[in-house]
Amino acid sequence: MKVFKTSLLAIAMLAIVSCSDKKKEEPFGKIETTEEVTTTNEATENISDGDLAIVNKGKEIFEGKGTCVACHQPSTKVVGPSLKEISGIYKEKNSSIVTFLKGEGEAIVDPSQYEVMKANFAITKAMSDEELQSLEAYIHSF
Ligand code: HEC
Repeated sequence: MKVFKTSLLAIAMLAIVSCSDKKKEEPFGKIETTEEVTTTNEATENISDGDLAIVNKGKEIFEGKGTCVACHQPSTKVVGPSLKEISGIYKEKNSSIVTFLKGEGEAIVDPSQYEVMKANFAITKAMSDEELQSLEAYIHSF
């Protein structure tokens, strides 16, 4: 009889322990994971240090004074096409993003929305060739 009582107690304790375990786990299950925007390092694993410096400079302009990030994201279309899409099409057509940003090219990605993009030439035309080249390198890093 004593053995029976002890094992009952043991089972009861086990039940309590496993219950409280579940409670402890719950908050973790509820934490929402926010997806990080792809970092330059991830996207540019295979390029040399010198190129990486240019790409990082481009990223800085893209997210800073260029304000490009407001309409362009690495892999999803927001207002403008994704950087992956832009890079893919420019590589395929062997076309120059620098020329486009100088306002000397034509839209080849999404011509129907060209007017929206055109408004940014006020900013990009004021940039140096070096700055435009870094933007181009940044876009091609995706
Ligand atoms: C107000 C929103 C907006 C901002 C800010 C913006 N873009 Fe765009 N961009 C667009 C839209 C919309 C398109 C699609 C139209 C097009 O293809 O021209 C586009 C297209 C492009 C293209 C592809 C052009 C082509 O050949 O079709 C490039 C390259 C580009 N943007 C680069 C940039 C850069 C670099 C910046 C920052 C200096 C920037 N964009 C800022 C909206 C924006």
